Amino acid sequence: MTTHHVLGIDIGGSGIKGAMVDVATGELVTERLRIPTPEQSTPLAVAHVVKEIVANFADQVADGPVGVTIPAVVTHGVTRTAANIDSSWIDAPAERIFEEVLGRDIYLMNDADAAGVAEVVYGAAKGHPGVVIVTTLGTGIGSAVINRGVLLPNTELGHIEVDGKDAETVAAASARTRDGLTFEEYVPRLQRYYETIERLFWPDLLVVGGGVSKHHEKFLPKLRLNTPIVPAQLRNAAGIVGAAWLAVERRENPDPLRATA
Ligand code: BGC
Repeated sequence: MTTHHVLGIDIGGSGIKGAMVDVATGELVTERLRIPTPEQSTPLAVAHVVKEIVANFADQVADGPVGVTIPAVVTHGVTRTAANIDSSWIDAPAERIFEEVLGRDIYLMNDADAAGVAEVVYGAAKGHPGVVIVTTLGTGIGSAVINRGVLLPNTELGHIEVDGKDAETVAAASARTRDGLTFEEYVPRLQRYYETIERLFWPDLLVVGGGVSKHHEKFLPKLRLNTPIVPAQLRNAAGIVGAAWLAVERRENPDPLRATA
């Protein structure tokens, strides 16, 4: 691999952030540029913001790969869900829309997949030889399942049903704030969530990311699980870093199922 500095872009509900990443170390080598997510966050409107970010780093990006995350399932360039984003993303050929607006290739991927890969390549689960499940606790719950370093994309374990409810509506960090819970009151919800994940997937390691993970000492030690559970290390850079890494990987191994029309 000759490309060492790669642009990663992380699309979130309130901001779209991009920075150049040194893919040899996982470090950001530029400042992060953040532009607010457009009010009407349709694929086309968001593509124009992404274009602005790419233009800002144009000299450094050149014709290198660009990775972009989105909080949705992405199969072969098509966004399939929209749990916490504009419903116009459902079944949108988003990767192609971005490429038309930008006039260049980009690689679009699920946000938690990117964050998860970043933790396995550079962070809390670096070089782990077994089954790692990374969950991000934020507005929703994102997940990445990685076995021996290989990602199984789009797992959506935030939407597993726990006690008859979509888990993220109860156990996401936003549910804690919405319901005005202390960390102590939040712990039983996380306990139910992670014991369900354990029972179904039998991971070797659980990694917890998302903004709330900076308070990990307030809840992780209180969970009673069979699997070791550790905080994420890359914090809010994980999406950008993972986007860059996966963009390199995907350029080297193009998706044979992506529609070319
Ligand atoms: C979405 C996932 C996303 C996660 C974190 C969930 O609501 O369904 O695709 O990864 O939120 O943003």
